[in-house]
Amino acid sequence: MFDQGSGEVVPFPGGDDAPRPRVLAIANQKGGVGKTTTAINLGTALAATGEEVLVIDLDPQGNASTGLGIDHKSREVSTYDVLTGEALLRTIIRDTAVPRLAIAPSTLDLAGLELEIGQERDRAFRLRDAVTALNADPTEPPFTYVLVDCPPSLNLLTINAMTAADAILVPLQCEFFALEGLSQLLKTVDQVKSSLNPELTIHGIVLTMYDARNNLSGQVVADVREFMGEKVYETVIPRNVRVSEAPSYGKPVLVYDLKCAGSEAYLRLATEVIQREKRLTERLAG
Ligand SMILES: Nc1ncnc2c1ncn2[C@@H]1O[C@H](COP(=O)(O)OP(=O)(O)OP(=O)(O)O)[C@@H](O)[C@H]1O
Ligand SMILES: [Mg+2]
Repeated sequence: MFDQGSGEVVPFPGGDDAPRPRVLAIANQKGGVGKTTTAINLGTALAATGEEVLVIDLDPQGNASTGLGIDHKSREVSTYDVLTGEALLRTIIRDTAVPRLAIAPSTLDLAGLELEIGQERDRAFRLRDAVTALNADPTEPPFTYVLVDCPPSLNLLTINAMTAADAILVPLQCEFFALEGLSQLLKTVDQVKSSLNPELTIHGIVLTMYDARNNLSGQVVADVREFMGEKVYETVIPRNVRVSEAPSYGKPVLVYDLKCAGSEAYLRLATEVIQREKRLTERLAG
């Protein structure tokens, strides 16, 4: 950027100087395992601790947008426009009812993105570049966390999320086939790491929809802990009817019913995420 006053070239604030948020991609190619519920409620819990949080809806279904109170009709611009290069991420962001929590909504046309940009050389880097410019305007409070809600697929959208991310957070449903597909997901993470994003790590695995009355749930928790060890968060999200009711009111469960078991679990998960973040940054610092 050219400063007219001094006549010197100064770094554009959107360049390397802009504060970068921590970017967590919430991914699992299996459908219905709790990705969107985790994006909404972990986002709400992080915002409640004082973080500035952006949820990016990268699923054409748009469930994260609906669940945060943005109805389909009101979505004029979306993550589709960002990924096709028609809009800056900042310009599509909407406030939610939760202080410090914003959403970049999606629309159905995101489903056609692969056809649209599938041949472009930078197709896997579109989200990363958008996020790099997110905090460019020094007059806006910088986002400290970005949570990307991925679609149930390992397609170009999920690859964009993994390329933009510092780490992946994997929700696994407590059901018989929980581990099925996990090795494919981990393989994809390794491929992205070796070709597109060398710093990528697995932040953690969160077990969702745990049912204490069902022996199988307990067995799944034990199996996943044995297989994935410390990567699995201590917090297990219980199956809780309040969690499933909240989206139809366009609210996070933490707003719909703060005291229910689901809300308490998501608050504990946020505490764990922050603790892991601290450990990671300490390790990086030396
Ligand atoms: N802890 C929970 N207790 C009860 N219901 C839950 C819980 N977590 C998620 N659900 C419900 O399970 C369904 C699937 O959850 P969610 O939409 O978060 O999964 P997803 O992985 O995002 O799905 P998709 O792959 O379709 O995007 C939803 O109806 C949601 O309300
Ligand atoms: Mg979803």
